[in-house]
Amino acid sequence: MASISGTFIILFFTISASVSATLSASVIDDLRSLKPPQDFNSTIMKNCLHNPSLRYCSTSSPMDLDEIFKSTIVASHLCNESKNPNCVESFPKVDLRSRPNIAPLYLSFNFFWKYCPISIVSIDLSNTSLKSNFPVDVLHCTQIQSLDMSHNELYGDVPIENFSALSNLSVLNLSYNHFSESRISDTLFFKKFNSSSFFHSGLIPDHKKFKIKAIVLLVGFPIFVILKVCCLGWLCFRRPDFLPKMFQRKNRFTPAMLKAATNGFSRNNLMGKSASVDIYRGTMRNGTDVRIEVYSSDCHPKVIEECKILVQLCHKNLVNLLGWCDNRSLRAVVTEWLEGENLERWLLGSNFTSWNYRLRILMGVVEGMCYLQEQWPGVGYDLRTSSIMLSNYNLEPKISRFKVGNQSSNSRRMYKFGVFLLEMMVNRRPQEEFERGEAGFIEYIRMHYPGNLEQLIDQKMELTQNTFDQAKQAICLGLMCTDVSSNRQPSLEQVFDIVSRTYQSSRVLASHHNHYHRRFQRGKGHRRVQSR
Ligand SMILES: *[C@@H]1O[C@H](CO)[C@@H](O)[C@H](O)[C@H]1NC(C)=O
Ligand SMILES: *[C@@H]1O[C@H](CO)[C@@H](O)[C@H](O)[C@H]1NC(C)=O
Ligand SMILES: *[C@@H]1O[C@H](CO)[C@@H](O)[C@H](O)[C@H]1NC(C)=O
Ligand SMILES: *[C@@H]1O[C@H](CO)[C@@H](O)[C@H](O)[C@H]1NC(C)=O
Ligand SMILES: *[C@@H]1O[C@H](CO)[C@@H](O)[C@H](O)[C@H]1NC(C)=O
Ligand SMILES: *[C@@H]1O[C@H](CO)[C@@H](O)[C@H](O)[C@H]1NC(C)=O
Ligand SMILES: *[C@@H]1O[C@H](CO)[C@@H](O)[C@H](O)[C@H]1NC(C)=O
Repeated sequence: MASISGTFIILFFTISASVSATLSASVIDDLRSLKPPQDFNSTIMKNCLHNPSLRYCSTSSPMDLDEIFKSTIVASHLCNESKNPNCVESFPKVDLRSRPNIAPLYLSFNFFWKYCPISIVSIDLSNTSLKSNFPVDVLHCTQIQSLDMSHNELYGDVPIENFSALSNLSVLNLSYNHFSESRISDTLFFKKFNSSSFFHSGLIPDHKKFKIKAIVLLVGFPIFVILKVCCLGWLCFRRPDFLPKMFQRKNRFTPAMLKAATNGFSRNNLMGKSASVDIYRGTMRNGTDVRIEVYSSDCHPKVIEECKILVQLCHKNLVNLLGWCDNRSLRAVVTEWLEGENLERWLLGSNFTSWNYRLRILMGVVEGMCYLQEQWPGVGYDLRTSSIMLSNYNLEPKISRFKVGNQSSNSRRMYKFGVFLLEMMVNRRPQEEFERGEAGFIEYIRMHYPGNLEQLIDQKMELTQNTFDQAKQAICLGLMCTDVSSNRQPSLEQVFDIVSRTYQSSRVLASHHNHYHRRFQRGKGHRRVQSR
């Protein structure tokens, strides 16, 4: 055996046979005991002349004869360990596959790798339990065609720049290691190798992971978009109030929106109830308080159709309709919420119903009527004290209860206004207190006008000499309006002129209004309903 190794070394380095005779079985022992022969220097020189590609020939600095000699010892052992067929003639491969006990030892001889024999074309260090950084010394063997480092526990970075010298490398296996994630396939050199060289190596993007990423992107992105669209669609149909304003459809309310506004149509929000309408108070998402009239399912669709026209009405003396909900499960109309009461109850209950307040309210009502007549002649309304809403804050009257296409004649309208005006002046309910209703009410007033005005006029108006005349005038106007048979009935324009002139002249007392709010609030606590 010793002679075989000796012959190999002679072939490999052309060193004298005397060295080979003393090679022992253990590479460590040999390294310790063996010394280069006397003529080692000249032998190497000769070798280099003969074959200049030998690695030690190209080292620039003075040769370290000792290192070169030691590398020949390691080479002879490694060639044998690697089961090369004939170590005397050639050393084509390093094969330490599945030899965890000796692989690290050979890797530690860095002088060997420094002078890596140029005959080696294949290095297999797979499954050798290597637990270290990439053994970069191995890459001194730049001529190799195959390198297998798979099934180890190598970690850290792969020395990418050192690999690029391995121009003849055609088989590479770094699979099953723990390298730090790096984008190894990006470099031109590694493009030669497909994913099977990097299975579970930590090196990415290998094609498999790339594929997964591509799939995730290709599948995930559309799903994301679809979900987003679905979400938007869902919001559009259910909670458009969560959408940006530009996506919201004006005046449209969804059942979910109204449900949310009323705490799920809770009893606490229920303000009134009749056979066909439930009235709720709600708060929309933007904070506005609304009145929601929920119609029973068999209500006429006309309610909603009318609503679509009425939302266009816009005047300070008309109740502002905000929109509607027209859904199989819910039909509702949404209007602004008015903190206050209707005029009928105000006349009955408030202690602060002086002539000036009433005149102010009258002015507002007439303004609202004029707006409707000029802009929306097709919209009718039911003018009575119970249908005029008063805002708590400024006593601004608001006409409610509109009817589309229910256009009563001008004469009829003026008649209704006349009754309304008279009711405000005498503060009595024509329908409830008089046997013949409105006719009886008017008859009653005619009977007392103008002789018995003191009895006729509501005492709560606190009239002065000046305002008494105005009140008298107002009753006269009311009677003219209700006089349908003659042609004494004034037009709405005339009424507007009279009322606004009277209102202007009474503005002198306007400063009085400033005190109103405070007093009104105080009075609210002990408001009493007058007995009739
Ligand atoms: C090797 O021999 C050459 C002459 O043949 C000499 O110049 C050189 O210094 C020697 N090197 C060593 C390391 O002894
Ligand atoms: C070479 O390997 C064989 C077993 O494969 C072994 O018996 C022999 O001792 C080895 N020789 C040297 C010089 O290491
Ligand atoms: C790795 O080596 C062990 C022995 O050290 C062996 O049992 C196992 O089958 C080898 N695995 C592979 C994948 O070669
Ligand atoms: C690759 O192989 C060719 C031909 O076998 C050889 O000339 C060249 O030197 C080799 N490259 C390296 C880096 O060893
Ligand atoms: C690896 O590359 C670094 C710098 O790029 C260099 O310093 C080092 O000597 C190289 N190692 C090998 C084994 O080629
Ligand atoms: C990788 O390339 C080798 C040839 O170099 C081929 O045999 C193998 O099928 C390829 N594997 C994949 C997963 O493409
Ligand atoms: C690398 O090794 C793994 C595991 O042994 C194997 O599945 C894979 O095909 C090998 N790749 C190459 C390029 O030989």
